[in-house]
Amino acid sequence: MKAIVHDVYGTTDVLRLRDVERPRISDEEVLVAVRAAAVDPGVLIFMAGRPYLARLAAGLRRPRVPVLGRDLAGVVTEVGPRVTRFRPGDEVYGTSLRGTYAEFTATHQKRLAPKPANVSFAQAAAVPVSGMTALRAVRDSGQVRPGHRVLVIGASGGVGSQAVQIAKAYGATVTGVCAPEKTRFVRSLGADDVLDYTRAEIDRDGPVHDVVIDTGGDRPLSLLRRALTPRGTLALVGGDWTRGPLLGGYGRQILGAPLLSTVVGQRLRAVNAVERTEDLDELSELIRSGALTPPVDRSYPLAEAAEALRHFTEGRPAGKVVITV
Ligand SMILES: NC(=O)c1ccc[n+]([C@@H]2O[C@H](COP(=O)([O-])OP(=O)(O)OC[C@H]3O[C@@H](n4cnc5c(N)ncnc54)[C@H](OP(=O)(O)O)[C@@H]3O)[C@@H](O)[C@H]2O)c1
Repeated sequence: MKAIVHDVYGTTDVLRLRDVERPRISDEEVLVAVRAAAVDPGVLIFMAGRPYLARLAAGLRRPRVPVLGRDLAGVVTEVGPRVTRFRPGDEVYGTSLRGTYAEFTATHQKRLAPKPANVSFAQAAAVPVSGMTALRAVRDSGQVRPGHRVLVIGASGGVGSQAVQIAKAYGATVTGVCAPEKTRFVRSLGADDVLDYTRAEIDRDGPVHDVVIDTGGDRPLSLLRRALTPRGTLALVGGDWTRGPLLGGYGRQILGAPLLSTVVGQRLRAVNAVERTEDLDELSELIRSGALTPPVDRSYPLAEAAEALRHFTEGRPAGKVVITV
């Protein structure tokens, strides 16, 4: 089968479109013919092997899994003997740890859910990693309730664009923070207000937000706290992951927030996305009801995966960049 592989860490120059063996499935795995996959910072971090902390998972000296990609949407072609939830022919979406920029991938049945019929494969592939992260930020870390005021920083990004929609579905009043050219897009997601970060800082309205969800930029905790009510919650999803060779932009959530949280009235929480069926099922419900529309900025064919990754880092996409197979 054709796949986008990398044998060493580096830039998009290390990526190759190659013929590799089709993965074999174990008892509880499903073989999926991939129709679409998506781009997120995690893919670039695994490609680059930077920040170095990521190599604990990706492989210390070279990539443990040569095929790139984690999100997928596709059609089940084969199931292991202990798979109970899927049959060949089922349309599914979810994640795989064996790479998804390929014609086929194998993955555990618990990483998949039936694809909602009202979205395309490209839209479905835009959801798993970013959507599950957004859901955890809104529901678990932020504990968003009806009537809450929520500020989403990075509202035009993969996680932020879905966090805006999920927070609205949870009954919040949402302000999205984004670049000036993205304000129309963020309003189209349902944000009640937008804040152009080139014109005002996030504490423009004072300490009025019950929940701040931070997915973009690299603001200090002191500034983020100034946008929160005295008992408010900061959900730190991520930030500028290109900063610093060891931790990237993750210093605030790995070190700063847990320490400071013990001595201040606000709750400062790092969001850790866990990929599981129950969360995919909740996202599916939101998609079916029309509360969540996966926003796709642009799609690229598999052979142009390197171009898709470059567009993601340099093209300032609004929503997700997708790869179709
Ligand atoms: N904790 C977890 O488990 C987890 C899971 C997934 C992702 N993450 C992390 O979460 C972060 C976001 O991921 P993503 O997939 O949403 O990335 P993304 O699609 O690149 O979105 C990030 C957004 O941040 C915005 N941004 C950049 N500079 C900004 C600034 N100074 N102020 C406000 N917004 C700014 C950008 O939009 P503009 O064009 O508007 O600037 C961009 O759309 C990354 O660091 C990623 O590694 C963490």
